[in-house]
Amino acid sequence: MSSKVHVYERIWLWAAGIMIAGFLGAIVVSAASHAVQPPSHVETIDPTKVDEDVEFGNPRVETMADGSIRVVAVSRLFSFEPDPIEVPYGTPVTFRITSPDVIHGFQIVGTNANTMVIPGYISQFSVKFPKPGEYLIVCNEYCGLAHHMMQGKVVVTEEVK
Ligand code: CUA
Repeated sequence: MSSKVHVYERIWLWAAGIMIAGFLGAIVVSAASHAVQPPSHVETIDPTKVDEDVEFGNPRVETMADGSIRVVAVSRLFSFEPDPIEVPYGTPVTFRITSPDVIHGFQIVGTNANTMVIPGYISQFSVKFPKPGEYLIVCNEYCGLAHHMMQGKVVVTEEVK
């Protein structure tokens, strides 16, 4: 049996191998340097009882005992609560979000915060804002007629603790 591989085929084998290595490398680099990771948090909630829930019945920003900030938010047709979300600069912020109706998106423009908000589940992620200022929250999952109007705001204040 001959192991002769045509020169063009050899070139393309190497080209494909190099491209695969490049793409995998891009995933590893973005995960390591920009914390781009799939969400891994699984916590459930009855979507019909979000408004009576002890946590989500009162969307708010709260300071935890360790000084970190927690935002309890609700995405619904067609708004985010609370709005605006006001947090101090320089403190890690953990968002906990759920939806009482349909699937929404929750993307904070200018940060790596971007999650789906799925009825029945609680999405959680932490984010460090790069600088004080206003950040736009957009819904990036089509959720109905006013989907394109569904937006909110995070105000990161200068206050340093
Ligand atoms: Cu909510 Cu699109």
